[in-house]
Amino acid sequence: MSIPVAKQYILDFEQLGFGMFVHWGLYSQVGKGEWHHYHKQRDKYLEECAKKGIVPEEKIPFKDRQLTDEYKSLINTFTAEDFDAEKLVLTAKNTGCKYITLTTRHHEGFSLFDTCGLNDFDAPHSPAKRDLIREFVDACRKHDIIPFFYMATHDWYHPATFNDFDAFLDYLNKSVEILCTNYGKIGGFWFDGNWSQPDADWKEDELYKVIRKHQPEAMIINNTGMAARGYIGNPEIDSVTFENGRPTPLNREGMPKYIAGEMCHTINDHWGIGEFDYNYKSPKELIENLCNCRKVGANYLLNIGPEGQGKVNDYQARLMELIGNWMKLNGEAIYNGRPYASYSVGKNFILKSYDGKSLYLFVFDLGIEGSANVTVGGKYFGSYSFGNVTDKVSSIEWMDNGEALKFIQGEDMLCVNFTGYPYGKSLGVRVAKAVIEK
Ligand code: GLC
Repeated sequence: MSIPVAKQYILDFEQLGFGMFVHWGLYSQVGKGEWHHYHKQRDKYLEECAKKGIVPEEKIPFKDRQLTDEYKSLINTFTAEDFDAEKLVLTAKNTGCKYITLTTRHHEGFSLFDTCGLNDFDAPHSPAKRDLIREFVDACRKHDIIPFFYMATHDWYHPATFNDFDAFLDYLNKSVEILCTNYGKIGGFWFDGNWSQPDADWKEDELYKVIRKHQPEAMIINNTGMAARGYIGNPEIDSVTFENGRPTPLNREGMPKYIAGEMCHTINDHWGIGEFDYNYKSPKELIENLCNCRKVGANYLLNIGPEGQGKVNDYQARLMELIGNWMKLNGEAIYNGRPYASYSVGKNFILKSYDGKSLYLFVFDLGIEGSANVTVGGKYFGSYSFGNVTDKVSSIEWMDNGEALKFIQGEDMLCVNFTGYPYGKSLGVRVAKAVIEK
């Protein structure tokens, strides 16, 4: 069995390596996550059930998901006065992200773009009075970042959601057509919500046909949800999703089509901002996740959630900046490294460059050298072996400071003497570049 030949746009997507996910909508003003409405409704539902003495369903009935007037009125305070598309794009760029996937419309049904009359629940009809997606794509193009559009397929606003599924699909297709035709070339679509009605006939062919007609090279991604990560589904799908979890290697042998992989991840515990969510991942954890995605050839899509009027809070901005600093030293390995069939014990692994001239050795939990008793953390450094390294290397050096590393190579074993960090530095993951002998 063979591996299917990949379409160029899918290979291009894989090489982007790292993207920034942005969840922003009316819910951001509340600061309790993007599912805040659902949870409020759930509390009401549980109360009702208790009153009536009935056992509640695990998920609340569809009819109870409909937006309340109180929720809808969040549009009246949405000014977007702190939304600076260019700043957002530069945050991504300085982090080393090559693309941004922005929620053009989340489950609440509010559109950041001009729905051109489909309904009035959009940014131009809010006090913001702007098409925020227009600002977003313009800023992306200015700074060479590829815009991707997240679009919810599970929608709590549109009346048809609750009584006429075909009418809802029609609304969805028309919305996507607007996004395909009004904003120039985009990187792709990221759909989210088919998991809400797994047995419904989503007529995905019709939706994807709209995209292929106007944006033939757009990536089509449809979130399979937490439970079915890595599931492929419709043949038009170009990448699988690994939502908030470890990506697994894709075995493409015998597949009808070559597809990419992408793992989206929260920076703390919520996608939309949680004002009281302090469970931020550490820079080390985020860097490790980025590396582990690349280990299996998947992209890492790291999420931030701006505040109500569009400002990225200082803590999230700073975390992204730190990752950006790491990327300035090691980004080459993230963009250019492809999975390599070597093995090792522990977390360390090797990638090989697209041009076949280098190997990138990713080293985890490295200690600081000569630090006596004044530092804590990893203590490990010294010689370390990789198996099944079929390329002969001529030199190896740390990417962050160019220090040459001693190594020996025999048969298919490569043994490297990894020096520890110099005092004053600890990068989370350290990368060494090996030159392959011609
Ligand atoms: C989920 C959630 C959603 C979030 C998405 C990102 O499916 O419904 O809120 O946008 O995952 O992966």
